[in-house]
Amino acid sequence: MRSAAVFVFVVAFLSSACNRSENQAEAATGGNAKVGRHLIYSYGCGSCHAIPGVAEAKGTLGPPLQGFAYRTYIAGSLQNTPENLFRWITKPQEVVAGSAMPDLGVSDRQARDIAAYLYTLQ
Ligand code: HEC
Repeated sequence: MRSAAVFVFVVAFLSSACNRSENQAEAATGGNAKVGRHLIYSYGCGSCHAIPGVAEAKGTLGPPLQGFAYRTYIAGSLQNTPENLFRWITKPQEVVAGSAMPDLGVSDRQARDIAAYLYTLQ
C-alpha cells in the first residue's frame, strides 16, 4: 500500500518536472515544442546532429544538441538567446558564412517551434 503511494508520488513528480521544462521553453520562444520536434524530424536536422527524443537523429557532422538549454554560445559565435537561436536556425549562412550548416528554408514561425523543442533539452 505504502509503496504504491510512493510510486504515484514519483510518477507525478517526474511528469510535472518534465512539463515544467516544456512550459518554460515555450514561454521563452512563443513556440510549440511538440510541433518543433516534428519539424526537426522532417527537416532532417538529425542527419547532422544527435538530438535526444528525435527518431533517427544520430548525425555526427554537427555538434550534439543534448543539453542545448545550458549552452552559452550558438555555433561558437552568438550568445544563446531565443532571438539569436531563431536567427541561426533560419539563416546560419548569414551568421557564419561558409558554415557546414546549410540554410534549409525554415520559416520564422517554424524556427520558434524548433527553438522551443531545443530549449527542453537540459
Ligand atoms: C548538413 C549538416 C547540418 C544540418 C542538416 C543541420 N545542421 Fe545544425 N549545425 C551543423 C554544423 C556543422 C554546426 C556547427 C556550426 C558552427 O559551429 O559553425 C551546426 C550547429 C547547429 C546549432 C548550434 C549548436 C551549438 O552548440 O553551437 C544548432 C542549434 C543547430 N545546428 C540546429 C540545427 C537544426 C534545428 C537543424 C534543422 C533545421 C540543423 N541544425 C540542420 C550542421 C547541420
